[in-house]
Amino acid sequence: MASPEERAQAARFSQTYIDGTAPAMRAIERHVCGCDYGGTSWTTAGQSARLRDLLALRPGVRLLDVGAGSGWPALHMVQSSGCEAVLVDLPLAGLRIAAARAARDGLAPRCGFAVADAAWLPFADGHFDAVSHSDLLCCLLSKREVLAECRRVLRPGGRMVFSVIHIPANLSPAHYRRAVDNSPEFVETNTAYPALLAETGWRLDETIDVTGDYRDCCQRQIEADAVHAAALVDLIGAEDLAARQARCRRRSQRSTTGWFGGTYSSRLEPALSRSRPGPGARRSPRLALNRPSSCGTARRVRSPARRRRPLR
Ligand SMILES: C[S@@+](CC[C@H](N)C(=O)[O-])C[C@H]1O[C@@H](n2cnc3c(N)ncnc32)[C@H](O)[C@@H]1O
Repeated sequence: MASPEERAQAARFSQTYIDGTAPAMRAIERHVCGCDYGGTSWTTAGQSARLRDLLALRPGVRLLDVGAGSGWPALHMVQSSGCEAVLVDLPLAGLRIAAARAARDGLAPRCGFAVADAAWLPFADGHFDAVSHSDLLCCLLSKREVLAECRRVLRPGGRMVFSVIHIPANLSPAHYRRAVDNSPEFVETNTAYPALLAETGWRLDETIDVTGDYRDCCQRQIEADAVHAAALVDLIGAEDLAARQARCRRRSQRSTTGWFGGTYSSRLEPALSRSRPGPGARRSPRLALNRPSSCGTARRVRSPARRRRPLR
């Protein structure tokens, strides 16, 4: 079950998805990420296309997108590949927006939507050909359980690709604290992602550092927020806008200095896809990381100040 902090975060995400339908927010999103789905990750349109290709999506492929929000980037991948997808998240508000977008884009027959906890996915073992998530793991505590669930619902030979904001290793204590304070609420982990993935049955194929994209997005958001400042004050209030802008400036500066991490993605494939494992054999998917990552379940260190709006 989600913790009280996670439930509070889900409520904030709900409001963010509702706010994200405002014309000013959509204009900012187009400038920042090149899309207009009301997304809350930092996945750009270019990265969405890359995700689609890494997952080898095509007609007939069944994709599960976890933490799907209001449909970005899952619906974009469905549209550009012809695949089918199930979108899962906790806030109903986001999924409603996603379902309306799917209907508008003629994708409804190939899309399903479910309110569900990523740590307790309501699907049979091996049901999906591909799994994706965008900046999900940095937004929850139960990273290990979620990775294990993703593994369970993926068929042998399937792949997972994900992005995650992480804190780089070897920071000074002061830099570590500043990085945590300017990251999503549950960014911290006491197990590095490669180890966590291995522990949950994945094999890492590739890691792609997209810190540069992340920094560029932050800089574009600073520009776009300035252009749409009046509308943003009406929408979220002057105080929240000031906090959002300050946070974005700090992220941009720190990522430029190289100590603030970007996000990783992982592509995963079961290693024994062509042969059935014998009794007791452990299926061991290979995986590839695209952006830097962090995760952890056992220990969680609270940062002193928590933001009201979790992302962007
Ligand atoms: C950064 S947002 C990304 C949303 C969307 N994929 C996008 O790119 O815009 C992370 C999402 O993870 C969802 N999330 C967090 N904890 C979750 C959980 N335990 N189960 C399912 N979704 C969760 C949040 O509700 C949020 O919508």
